[in-house]
Amino acid sequence: MLYLTILLLLLTFICLYCLYDCVKPKNYPPGPAWLPFLGCLIKFMRLRSKCGYIYLVVQELARIYGPILGLKLGNQKVVVISTHDLVKKVILREEFNGRPDGFFFRVRSFGKRKGILFTEDNTWTQCRRFTTRHLRMFGLGQTLMKDQLVIEARELVDHLQKLSEHGPVLMHTIFDIAVLNALWFMIAGHRFDYEDQKVQEVLVVVHDVFRLMDPLGGVMSQMPFLRFVIPEQSGYNELMRIHKKIWGFLDEEIKMHENEPSDNPRDLIDAFLLEMSNKSGDEDTIFDRENLMILCLDLFLAGSKTTTDTLATTFLFLSVHPEWLKLLQIELDGVVGRSRAPVETDLPYLPMTEAFLAEVQRYLILAPLGVPHRATKDVFLDEYLIPKDTIMLFDFHSVHNDNTYWEEPDVFRPQRFLDEQGQFRRNNNSLPFGLGKRRCPGELLARSSLFMLFTNVVHYFNMEIAAEYGEPDLNAYDGFTLSPKPYYLKLTRRSD
Ligand code: HEM
Repeated sequence: MLYLTILLLLLTFICLYCLYDCVKPKNYPPGPAWLPFLGCLIKFMRLRSKCGYIYLVVQELARIYGPILGLKLGNQKVVVISTHDLVKKVILREEFNGRPDGFFFRVRSFGKRKGILFTEDNTWTQCRRFTTRHLRMFGLGQTLMKDQLVIEARELVDHLQKLSEHGPVLMHTIFDIAVLNALWFMIAGHRFDYEDQKVQEVLVVVHDVFRLMDPLGGVMSQMPFLRFVIPEQSGYNELMRIHKKIWGFLDEEIKMHENEPSDNPRDLIDAFLLEMSNKSGDEDTIFDRENLMILCLDLFLAGSKTTTDTLATTFLFLSVHPEWLKLLQIELDGVVGRSRAPVETDLPYLPMTEAFLAEVQRYLILAPLGVPHRATKDVFLDEYLIPKDTIMLFDFHSVHNDNTYWEEPDVFRPQRFLDEQGQFRRNNNSLPFGLGKRRCPGELLARSSLFMLFTNVVHYFNMEIAAEYGEPDLNAYDGFTLSPKPYYLKLTRRSD
């Protein structure tokens, strides 16, 4: 009898919990109905297999429920903001500039909140200040960075020359080393050779990890217990394997600095180690070795994959718009001439090139939902209540395709960034680097790397799709960012 009563009580409790779990908070933004434990995960997954991409799922739902879309995926409340005006309005509000917490967002940082990308408050403020100050100190936006990019552009051109002599070149990861080197020079004070096996292996897993994750953290964020039940199928084992590889690589880079300590820091790692030793004994310091490791991880991931994929996609667009290749080469020949390589000071005289790169960044679907934010308290947004800890996603794809601001947004048209005199016309409605206090701190480096590596390759090579490998697939892989699929180009050196 006692057992029966306990069983009945248990069942009643479960039923009540299920009922409670389906009820949306009062004034929660509109969205699909919730099931107990799952929220609207089943509908979301079904749409994902139909649409293929997470950003298309949220756009399909936003069409039905509106630009402030309320979801619950597993135990996680998620609100997606779309359209240009709303995104700009909401992302600038302090209360929406936290970062999500939880198993998935901590697994990469030893179960703690470390680094710059997924931290808040004191850790984030100090890490961000330290990073921007020291990236500047070691070259960001300065002659040092520009000189380094001249070297990287030359090395890239030489590397492509060698590869192209053996047939079509596999392009989707070809910019990895050049892009990483421009950043690593400031962080660790050295560059990698194209033949460096160790860094190549790490770069392969960097591509893997971006495809394995999504901006919502995937199933491991919504149902973290699954890692115990199905560690292989949930992706947990793979995620750990990848992280161990990157941690190992970063650990060696830091050890190299620890073995040669310097009171006169040569790079960001040196400066962090010096800060650690100055603050040793201070219990509240954020300057500890784990934080250094995760800061390097954040910069390594955020700083390499984004620029690499933008470049790879830029050349993909160029290969399907050969008329632009000719136009850009004519512009470069007129300004730079055939006897030297393009350098950053040429930029103001190359409006068409600048417009082409600006249109790529608008049109390209690189991080359509950006990096997830978190509501740090209960907030009213218009008539809706967004509860504390809700994950906030900003649909940057909708910003870049908003009909109110862009004429025929689905057409690739660099001319929209040129004025009547053919001069470059900036347009602040394009937000490839985000907005507000979380705005990308690597923008200067990214813009210079894109310009230098792009113009040098265009200046020295003609290119066409390698027909023997078929037409390139323009549909990228889904993931934390969208990654271009492998494609081959036939490169031929232009005469000097
Ligand atoms: C084409 C290249 C790049 C693009 C399109 C890009 C874009 C973005 C975007 C959209 C964000 C998120 C802003 C938000 O959360 O609202 C971001 C954050 C970030 N980016 Fe970049 N980025 C690029 C290159 C770089 C580079 C080269 C670095 C290296 C220094 C970098 C480091 C970071 C970091 C550390 C954050 C996190 C900032 C924070 O949470 O405070 N990014 N980036």
